[in-house]
Amino acid sequence: MPTRRQILAGSMATAGVGIAGLGAPLLAAVSELRIQPARYRLLEETIGGLVSLSPDAPPPVLRLRQGEPFEVDVSNALDDFTAMHWHGIRVPNGMDGVPYLTQVPFGRDETFRYAFTPEDAGTYWYHPHCMTMDQMARGLTGVLVVEEMEPPGFDSDLALNLRDFRLDGRGQLRERQWSARGAARAGTHGSVLTANWEVTPVYAAPAGGLLRLRLAATDPTRIYRVYLTDAEGAPLPEPGRIIAIDGHPVREAVPWPTEEAPLLLSPGQRADLALAVPAEEGREIQVFTDRPGPPHLLARLRAEGTDAGRTLAELRPLAPNPLSEPDLAAAKVVEFVFGWSPEESVQDNGFCGTLGYTFWSINREPWPGDAAKGTGPLATLRLGRSYILRLRNESPNDHPIHLHGLTFRPVQSNRRKVAGNWTDTALLLEGETMDVALVADNPGNWAFHCHVIEHQKTGLAGYLRVE
Ligand code: C2O
Ligand code: CU
Ligand code: CU
Repeated sequence: MPTRRQILAGSMATAGVGIAGLGAPLLAAVSELRIQPARYRLLEETIGGLVSLSPDAPPPVLRLRQGEPFEVDVSNALDDFTAMHWHGIRVPNGMDGVPYLTQVPFGRDETFRYAFTPEDAGTYWYHPHCMTMDQMARGLTGVLVVEEMEPPGFDSDLALNLRDFRLDGRGQLRERQWSARGAARAGTHGSVLTANWEVTPVYAAPAGGLLRLRLAATDPTRIYRVYLTDAEGAPLPEPGRIIAIDGHPVREAVPWPTEEAPLLLSPGQRADLALAVPAEEGREIQVFTDRPGPPHLLARLRAEGTDAGRTLAELRPLAPNPLSEPDLAAAKVVEFVFGWSPEESVQDNGFCGTLGYTFWSINREPWPGDAAKGTGPLATLRLGRSYILRLRNESPNDHPIHLHGLTFRPVQSNRRKVAGNWTDTALLLEGETMDVALVADNPGNWAFHCHVIEHQKTGLAGYLRVE
């Protein structure tokens, strides 16, 4: 386990970071990201107590290029410890940002250098893995795009970072972003739904052009139920296509989401949509999420300029990412049970924060805390071998189960027909058992947990070892 800590003095700027927007230029070279307190104007109020990579803006979209080395110094201006994780990216274990498992968390005015070469193109994201509940709920969840080697031919590219904020009656962040009641059930939802830290932003899109819409559910709790409509709330005249799920080009088609059958996007998940922007200037596409109560309008895309006259048929299909195909016939089955915690125990999280409760377990063992002694792997997988992980949810709640460092794909479920698309986060519905297949081709200790952060932080976590 690496113990290197780099301590850098002096002030640092977040220079060289590509900020997304329509037609934003590619990021050339990131040098530095500084995790720091932030303020932001939302719903007419300036909200303090946020955490971002700038004092007054949401975490930027980082743009990397497939196969090109990426190197960044992440520094910490908070009073708490932190560590940065690159969700869905297959990195060397030491770059994975998991405290005590892959690195020592770093404190105020310390810096950690992350360096890796993304093998896979697509939509990913980044967030801290230490003080996770606090730092993520306060805003530190950002989108990471890895550009394909061959551009697929879009006119425009827009990421929507979907997340809630939990505000009080005065429009300020609540001191506590979670609740014991929520942690023991479906999690605590925020009160304000945002896209890119805005409530229902409107984005310009090139009229008659082709838009790649990247949806990223970075909320600590909410499972989005997304669908798109025209300005009147009717289905789009020309529906688009879902071209990638959780970063990877789809192998099995995913039906176009509708109000009746929306796309489920659970915490940690992403979807890339190819959209034909209306040809007529001023016409709109609306992005909704369904929820208890009226559907919420997440964002609006408005056609601007003269008709570019493009059609979806002109897009080049995305090239598959270089993933190893599991040998299902030879795969060994390893079982995991996600459920209630069998006993009273309190987490010991060292410098990375504890909620003070234990409610959940994997294989009946609650995760005792990031820094706890004597935590072994839930399973040890042999490097290069194929496995089927049998994921059994015996609880009455839904759990987005996330595995670091390896990419897997669903094979079957006892509750529904699952599409065999590559992923890093599988939503297990109440009472669902899902088999997922992978090749254990990346050595190291890989965190394995529910991405409802209140579940993760109250026991529903562990790790797999590949050696
Ligand atoms: Cu998105 Cu363990 O992380
Ligand atoms: Cu992850
Ligand atoms: Cu969960």
